[in-house]
Amino acid sequence: MENKTIAFIGGGNMARSLIGGLIADGFPADRIRVAEPDPEQRGNLSATFGVRVTGDNRDAVADADGVVLAVKPQVIRDVATELAPQLARTGAVVISIAAGIRESDLSRWLGDGLPVVRVMPNTPSLVQTGATALYANTATSTEQRSLAESLMRAVGLTCWLDDENQMNAVTAVSGSGPAYFFLLMESMEQAGADLGLPRETARLLTLQTALGAAKMALESAEDVATLRRQVTSPGGTTEQAIQAFEDGGLRELVEQALKAAADRAESLGDELGNQ
Ligand SMILES: NC(=O)c1ccc[n+]([C@@H]2O[C@H](COP(=O)([O-])OP(=O)(O)OC[C@H]3O[C@@H](n4cnc5c(N)ncnc54)[C@H](OP(=O)(O)O)[C@@H]3O)[C@@H](O)[C@H]2O)c1
Repeated sequence: MENKTIAFIGGGNMARSLIGGLIADGFPADRIRVAEPDPEQRGNLSATFGVRVTGDNRDAVADADGVVLAVKPQVIRDVATELAPQLARTGAVVISIAAGIRESDLSRWLGDGLPVVRVMPNTPSLVQTGATALYANTATSTEQRSLAESLMRAVGLTCWLDDENQMNAVTAVSGSGPAYFFLLMESMEQAGADLGLPRETARLLTLQTALGAAKMALESAEDVATLRRQVTSPGGTTEQAIQAFEDGGLRELVEQALKAAADRAESLGDELGNQ
């Protein structure tokens, strides 16, 4: 990342969290450019982070080594075609965080042969606890891969994929995943309240238990099945609850849910690529 300049196209939620993460990691604000159409948002970005802002996308990428496309998927094609001639000259790596936009479609809009990294972050990136998968095309150098990885590591964990087709599974697991845990937490909070706890107590106990379970699983050398068995004493309370989940077909339901999400990711990719 040393001496690199990064341009963000779009200064919305995701760009803000990435910029915040980069600056917290010690990346100099004066090497970040942000192109954002809304003057009020530009003023806010400049005041909050001290970054250089502009209303002109081409101006933002002029001296950039990495260009982060942080706009909604529906406007990626227009942004890519607008920047294509300039990027062909500078050779900057294009890092797309747009959900569902395939590398092959982006490369077609940019003009083939440019370095492109497609990344799939998730919403906890907004609180620097994201989980991001990255896929780079063959035009991307090792140094450019490292730039993209460092950028995304500023907001959480990163994993590389060798095969872009795996992005649909990533979308099903980590992209949509926060909502599954929210649903489980919502159900546990309600069940706790139904069992007689004050709502706020049920909420806090549920959220801290989710955080503690994830922290234990990440820090333990054991796999999650072993951790589950370790807290499930024969004849105890946990065993009764786990048995109810198993009898209700939780595993099959999770499998069905993730398959449905992956199938939708595939069809969304087709729709967005046909823009
Ligand atoms: N939020 C997440 O957790 C998350 C997770 C995974 C992937 N993503 C992906 O991240 C991308 C950005 O999401 P977001 O939540 O940050 O969206 P957002 O808050 O709407 O940010 C997009 C920004 O781009 C600006 N913009 C629109 N058209 C533009 C153009 N032609 N040139 C430059 N800037 C333009 C928008 O300005 P105006 O508001 O003035 O239109 C807005 O500030 C999306 O592609 C999304 O799929 C987000």
